[in-house]
Amino acid sequence: MREFTGAYPTEAHPTGQVRTFEIVAAESELPPLEGDRLRVWAYNSQVPGPTLRVRLGDTVHVHFVNHLPQPTTIHWHGVRLPNAMDGVPNLTQPPVMPGESFDYQFTPKDAGTFWFHPHVRSSEQVERGLYGVLIVEDPQPPPYAQDLLWVLDDWLLDEHGQIFPEFNTRHDLAHDGRWGRVITVNGHTAERLALRAGERVRLRIVDTANGRVFKPDFGALEVQIIAVDGLYLRQPIPYRGFEIAPGNRLDLDITAPSASSGTFVVTDRFYPPMPHALATVVIDGMSPPTPAFPSPARAHVPVWSEGLAVPVTKQFRLNARQGGPYGIEWTINDQAFRHDDGTHPAPDHDADVDRGDAHAGHAMPPPALTMRQGTFQRLQFVNESYRLHPIHLHGMFFRLLARNGVPVDEPFFRDTVLVHSRETIDIGLIPEDVGLWMMHCHILEHAEAGMMTTLRVQGTI
Ligand code: C2O
Ligand code: CU
Repeated sequence: MREFTGAYPTEAHPTGQVRTFEIVAAESELPPLEGDRLRVWAYNSQVPGPTLRVRLGDTVHVHFVNHLPQPTTIHWHGVRLPNAMDGVPNLTQPPVMPGESFDYQFTPKDAGTFWFHPHVRSSEQVERGLYGVLIVEDPQPPPYAQDLLWVLDDWLLDEHGQIFPEFNTRHDLAHDGRWGRVITVNGHTAERLALRAGERVRLRIVDTANGRVFKPDFGALEVQIIAVDGLYLRQPIPYRGFEIAPGNRLDLDITAPSASSGTFVVTDRFYPPMPHALATVVIDGMSPPTPAFPSPARAHVPVWSEGLAVPVTKQFRLNARQGGPYGIEWTINDQAFRHDDGTHPAPDHDADVDRGDAHAGHAMPPPALTMRQGTFQRLQFVNESYRLHPIHLHGMFFRLLARNGVPVDEPFFRDTVLVHSRETIDIGLIPEDVGLWMMHCHILEHAEAGMMTTLRVQGTI
């Protein structure tokens, strides 16, 4: 399993540049989606929040201030960083109380498209509008004519066009989380993608919805997938539809036809009986075609064809049952994670927990699995339910090895994989970063109602 070595860099090469950002979370008002002005919770008064753009090797410093009426944190989804910067309340830090602040500082180890969101009452806080994108550029960004971003979300609104104020309803919990009828791209319902004939662009897509999966149809456009969950593929593959589940990112290389103009609609076809318009593509005007260059790729993405010959390290059964604070709870191996709502201060250091676990004394259940850094692990997820579960691991990337026992070779890593109804999947990974990392369903209502646990990565002493 040495194949992993070099598959992604384990050392970033810091440039010494510190990029400082200030992020304030607070209540805010936006132009209406439907009805009245939309009251949201927002980072820096905007939804999506600010896009933080840095270069690989830069150090990100975020001075974060909480002016919300609830405790919160920021989790840096997909970013490999020191455990203490991961933003998990009572595990990696105390929750940031109203009026308080917290400084996040880390040097991303990977270039790519990442995002950030609260990890306290996420099903409410993300739904109210708290999310933003972190783009880590390559040291030499490929010369696309445009570097574009689509942040996808959906909104469940009440009759006044306000965010429907009940969260974690029985309906949401019994289904695939909270799905709303109003779909936005970059915060509005009329996104336009303006291309000139022959132009070649990069489009980064992020699914920030609580539960909705998107599968965009780009019609006749020439589209290649160049990155999934931030990281480049072994080689680009033609886009033929991709299920972008909550948490997932997809980077596309798009070339507009060189001799045409026109307008067409990009449509979400995840659920074919109900297609949704996502955006209008307008091809207009000639530009000198973008100079030819190879699509970016990652020199080494392991195959791990022998991964399925390795015994399963640990199986995780995903299911639901009656009970818990919401009436339905979602379980991993019959355990439902109980969230502390963060309104109680974290206790002082627990004498007998390891360094790095200083906030874990808080009724945090023991890790579901302890893995040794640098060793191959085969994890198996058995979905015993009929619902969707996009399973997300913090702090590490993995590869899909099989669906329902059938080997698959996706030429890329992931940090989130959609497990369909009654499906079994196998993933392979070699953890590199020491600490206690969350593993949970990224349907935020499922996570809130228990489908969450921790994995420990132990150093080789
Ligand atoms: Cu974006 Cu713990 O997740
Ligand atoms: Cu789920």
